[in-house]
Amino acid sequence: MSDKKINLNTVSINHLHMITGMLPENAVEEINKHIDDVIIPTQDSVSYNLVGQINQGKKSSQLDFDLKTPYGQQFKGMLDSFATALLQQGYKREGKADAVECWTVHSYAGDYNPFHSHGTATPAGLSCILYLKVPDCIKEKPTPNNSDWNINHASGDCDGFTQLIYNTATSYDVYSLHASGQEMIKPEVGKIYIFPKWVNHQVYPFFGEGERRTLSANFNVYYSENENKKFGVVSDWL
Ligand SMILES: [Fe+2]
Repeated sequence: MSDKKINLNTVSINHLHMITGMLPENAVEEINKHIDDVIIPTQDSVSYNLVGQINQGKKSSQLDFDLKTPYGQQFKGMLDSFATALLQQGYKREGKADAVECWTVHSYAGDYNPFHSHGTATPAGLSCILYLKVPDCIKEKPTPNNSDWNINHASGDCDGFTQLIYNTATSYDVYSLHASGQEMIKPEVGKIYIFPKWVNHQVYPFFGEGERRTLSANFNVYYSENENKKFGVVSDWL
């Protein structure tokens, strides 16, 4: 054997890219103020187009967040820049993301969102979740993957959490060294996640006082002509 040192590296092959970040407190306050002053009073329900079972509280609702108003345009600019960053930095694609619909979810005790994914007009699309209000009964839960987090013993440790499910791996598959296909997200005020529209997700109900407020958006994805060519797609057809 050579006495030269052999460097070994572990290599991970990723198949799902997301963007996540924390909005500053004043930005969250400003968005919540716009929702309180404009979105809630307008009461433009979009429940007919959403699977959320948001109906247990007097204020339970799913409301349109108009991206065409001056405030909406400014907000859309921020969302589009985040989503385009995922496209370009995560997926290494030439193109841009364009938020086309946006809505708020005002959940109270017992409300939940069943397993689903989102749709967009373009074949590739992105979706986002931004947490804007989190009740204390969710805040006080342990954080997933920490040693004190355990959903056995009827602990309620996933109450009010969002779960992403992006493949069908069972626990036995994971034991056999396949990649896990699930991620449990504990809501945190200001945290935003952007991911491909095909990622299935669900939200578990919580049981306690207060509002769990989130904002979601869907983005069409427009590739450059050059990017389309790589996939044999003629841009004019889209
Ligand atoms: Fe959703």
